[in-house]
Amino acid sequence: MNTFLHAKDLGNFDEALEIARELKEDRYKYEQLGKHKTALLVFFNNSLRTRLSTQKAARNLGLDVIVLDVNQGAWKLETERGVVMNGDRSEHLLEAIPVMASFCDIIGVRTFAGLTNREDDYTECILNQFIRYSGKPVFSMESATAHPLQSFADLITIDEYKKTKRPKVVLTWAPHPKALPQAVPNSFAEWMRAADFDLVVTHPEGYELDPLFVGDARVEYDQMKAFEGADFVYAKNWSCPGVTNPADYGKILCNEPSWTVSQRQMAVTNDAHFMHCLPVRRNVVVTDEVIESPRSLVIPEAANREISASVVLKQMLANL
Ligand code: CP
Repeated sequence: MNTFLHAKDLGNFDEALEIARELKEDRYKYEQLGKHKTALLVFFNNSLRTRLSTQKAARNLGLDVIVLDVNQGAWKLETERGVVMNGDRSEHLLEAIPVMASFCDIIGVRTFAGLTNREDDYTECILNQFIRYSGKPVFSMESATAHPLQSFADLITIDEYKKTKRPKVVLTWAPHPKALPQAVPNSFAEWMRAADFDLVVTHPEGYELDPLFVGDARVEYDQMKAFEGADFVYAKNWSCPGVTNPADYGKILCNEPSWTVSQRQMAVTNDAHFMHCLPVRRNVVVTDEVIESPRSLVIPEAANREISASVVLKQMLANL
């Protein structure tokens, strides 16, 4: 594996889940793989889980780790080619990337959607420059449109808790005061389809996800109907993906509080587990009661980020 952005990059899911189980039993099983090798983790925005879990996973595999917070201590980076750099951006990615690459063997990149120009975000301008100009294996730690390490951790979690081979998994939009990217719901839909789970996506009209990720998954605009018989409920806010109306890309079209996940909706499920990638706004996205209930998986789900990153790094190191 030389790049990790989409579900297909991981290869066979059964094999990957088997490695996940193996690494959960013994996190240091492959600690020789990363000896005398260095992982560089580049963050263009804030992170708690990704930052901690990816460092831990890299160290489990014997890697040295360098973390660079681009916006804290580095030169301000220009990302567009052709720009006259007479503003406050002192260095271009086109020089910065090969320089960063000269100090490491593998690169993780965390970027965020700008949410102003759909094309810029959906062409993954920053991540693709790392892939093109670093000459090193590059993995996404969340990009403008996808969060595959999160979705792999979600898959591992569902695999651990599911009672049937093909559980009903509901991805539900929930309100939020800020406009958020579509990376998490995009990847979640993509990975749940690739796992062949019974995926239902529910959101207010106008929030249709990109067909590249959601494919032919069932979309149900009635949230209560979508929740009926669900085994897993995955809540997440996202801003307008601009699929039906590109002019609305990145906007908040609705903040209807009845979409907050509460016991009212959970009552019609098949005693569903509640999931969210975190961080989460309590009593906006989900009520205290639901997130604190014994059916909530948000903590084991976050802990599985170490496992998903360990599997991905192991597979990438095997190719070095
Ligand atoms: N879920 C997730 O990626 O969390 P962070 O933004 O804290 O890394």
